[in-house]
Amino acid sequence: MKKVIAKIPEIFAPLMTQKYRIKLCYGGRAGGKSYAFADSLLLLGRQKKLLIACLREIQDSIKDSVHKLLSDRISFYGLSDYRVAEDRIDNRLTGTRFIFKGLREQDSQKIKSLEGVDIAWIEEAQTISKKSWEILEPTIRKDGSEIWISMNRLFENDPIWTAVAANPDRRTWIRRVNYCDNPFCPEEMRLLAEKCRRENMEKYRHVWLGAPLAQGAERLIGAAAVRQAFTPKIASTTSPLIVGLDIARFGDDKTVFCFRKGRLVMGFESYAGKSNVEVANIATNIIGEKRPVRLFMDIGGQGAGVYDILKDRGVGEVIRGVYFGEKALQADRYFNRRAEMWDKINRWLTELPLPELPADEDLFDELTAVNKKFDGRGRLQLEDKEDIKKRLGRSPDKADALALTFAEPVYDYGVPRLYGNGKVPVEEMFALAKKSSGGGW
Ligand SMILES: Nc1ncnc2c1ncn2[C@@H]1O[C@H](COP(=O)(O)OP(=O)(O)O)[C@@H](O)[C@H]1O
Ligand SMILES: [Mg+2]
Repeated sequence: MKKVIAKIPEIFAPLMTQKYRIKLCYGGRAGGKSYAFADSLLLLGRQKKLLIACLREIQDSIKDSVHKLLSDRISFYGLSDYRVAEDRIDNRLTGTRFIFKGLREQDSQKIKSLEGVDIAWIEEAQTISKKSWEILEPTIRKDGSEIWISMNRLFENDPIWTAVAANPDRRTWIRRVNYCDNPFCPEEMRLLAEKCRRENMEKYRHVWLGAPLAQGAERLIGAAAVRQAFTPKIASTTSPLIVGLDIARFGDDKTVFCFRKGRLVMGFESYAGKSNVEVANIATNIIGEKRPVRLFMDIGGQGAGVYDILKDRGVGEVIRGVYFGEKALQADRYFNRRAEMWDKINRWLTELPLPELPADEDLFDELTAVNKKFDGRGRLQLEDKEDIKKRLGRSPDKADALALTFAEPVYDYGVPRLYGNGKVPVEEMFALAKKSSGGGW
């Protein structure tokens, strides 16, 4: 077998040389975590036969996995003993096998196939749900098996962090690694990090130093992020249209439609004093003319009536009803649906490529008026609607309509075309290359 000299930074050495039940590396972008995990696993797999499962919360296709990174590293080192197949990677000499799975998609039957695993690598582990972790941990039960975790912490209470790192035992190895610890960190990345440090210290601490986002009684959405979204930058986009419909509950509230295509919010339409039938008529026209892939609507209060009329008219394929107060899709993380959808706005605002909102001061006030808190189980919660109304003088109808566009993930491979001779800023190139965060929300 060809001898290779591993190009793995010293800080990661224990991955290969020491025994721990759990090995967890966390930190900001470009710390070298993914490369070090990939290289270490490839080299271990040449020493003896291992079954290695590469896991993440959601894996819609093999493209979402570390399959590509592993095969790139195989080429880089010239490891001809590895054979790369479409959905697995095998070592011809030792019999080592890499498999790739999304945990969310596993039912209890399929998860059994993980029982013989020697090493499970959980990538982007900040997105792992409590449920996924509770199923996985006891499944990796083979003698001497290890769980490797790489993550960039999101909140103080990311489920896997709470379970593994908040109170670590002797069988757990934890290391923080950031771009400054990565001797191979590309110059472009370093420059991006330094730029971020100068412009937004809070963001820098999170994105580049791996600090979890701050908690406490404070605004959910930062003013700077909203202002930034008000700058026109997206010329057009191929993303599908999603409509959010927030229906007036009280005399002084408005019924608002929000139109969003991926990273671009095209606009809002507001109506006062409409009956259920009138609102249903407007919605039917919008569906007929603009052909959204989804129309998410609030079905608390009046909305239920409008929803029934629309169902009756045969547009049930497109519309989805949402109760703000209902259980969140990620119920271990969010107090209710409302908190979950609003937090999606927050993430949408801060992810790259940067998004665009119509420059609307009402919308600005609404988005930045909302305080967040955490419930007894550490879940994100928004302050009471009555308190928001008091501060704002009305209810945040436009912002709620925008939140509704994030009610469920929608399949979206759209790409925004930016102003400026189609030149793509460096930041965006990285974002597209990484194709990471939140795909489709
Ligand atoms: N062993 C390595 N050899 C060469 N380049 C590396 C190595 N480790 C990291 N890099 C470079 O650093 C960048 C960031 O590493 P990555 O593993 O993706 O970081 P993280 O997973 O911590 O975000 C990579 O895109 C690559 O350019
Ligand atoms: Mg990574």
